[in-house]
Amino acid sequence: MKQTLFTLSTAVLLWSCAAKDEKKDVLYPESASTEKKSPEEFGKELFESTGNCFACHQPDQKIIGPSIEQIARIYKDQNGDMVSFLKGNEKPLVDPDQFSVMQTNFAITKKMSDEELKALEAYIYSHLK
Ligand code: HEC
Repeated sequence: MKQTLFTLSTAVLLWSCAAKDEKKDVLYPESASTEKKSPEEFGKELFESTGNCFACHQPDQKIIGPSIEQIARIYKDQNGDMVSFLKGNEKPLVDPDQFSVMQTNFAITKKMSDEELKALEAYIYSHLK
């Protein structure tokens, strides 16, 4: 009888471990969804983390830098090339007097891939009303 109980509890233990593993498998595709994120979502993430852009750019009010919405509007109106700007290849269109403040960030954006820069651009354009 004792033996049977032992076997039974071992089986239950093993089963619960197996069940946990199964759960992990189900969760996995979700946590690996980085590739499935839309460019806007990926851009938002970069904007708020790696890029630290959020420190100076808020969605609809000027803090240190112009608002995201203002940047989007001016770039759309003037058909600006934001990716090229972030690579350090363009003249500023939004607030040339403050360009030197923005320029310090090119150290970060120049290291970003085209995909990352396009994601930032998509995130900025998503603020157009
Ligand atoms: C230290 C503050 C600061 C940070 C951090 C910062 N910016 Fe800026 N940004 C500015 C200021 C100030 C301007 C206005 C000067 C200008 O227009 O170049 C600006 C302007 C811009 C413009 C408009 C450029 C133009 O054509 O005039 C874009 C696009 C931009 N920032 C994107 C970003 C992105 C993307 C990041 C994050 C990788 C970022 N900024 C981080 C301060 C900052």
